[in-house]
Amino acid sequence: MPEVTRRSVFGVAGGGAVVGVVTACGGGEDTANVGDPADVDAPIASTDEVPVGEGAVFSEHEVVVTQPEEGTFRAFSTRCTHEGCPVDQVSDGQIQCPCHGSRFSIEDGSPVEGPAESPLEEIQIRVDGDSIVLA
Ligand code: FES
Repeated sequence: MPEVTRRSVFGVAGGGAVVGVVTACGGGEDTANVGDPADVDAPIASTDEVPVGEGAVFSEHEVVVTQPEEGTFRAFSTRCTHEGCPVDQVSDGQIQCPCHGSRFSIEDGSPVEGPAESPLEEIQIRVDGDSIVLA
């Protein structure tokens, strides 16, 4: 009888841990979607992480930041407009999607090469000192 009790307690504890993880992830996404002021000022990158004429992917923020000209920064969602894969790199002056080869402009996120036909969603940012933050 005591073993059954321990298993039951362990089972509940394990289930509780899983629920806690899911809740924590969901809460983070909800916070970003509602524009929590704490998130708006949170730096997503440092300006020196974004090379001129190229860009960098910040997967943890689901944002790709580009610098088409020195001092001019743009940001786009990493979600490819073809089938939703995350774009994973910026090279040869273009944002690259690994799934089916779409390439996007670092200036305005427009598709340079398909199969994607729509531009990446632009994300409003501002430069605060050496930090790039959501606007
Ligand atoms: S999902 Fe990006 S090219 Fe298909």
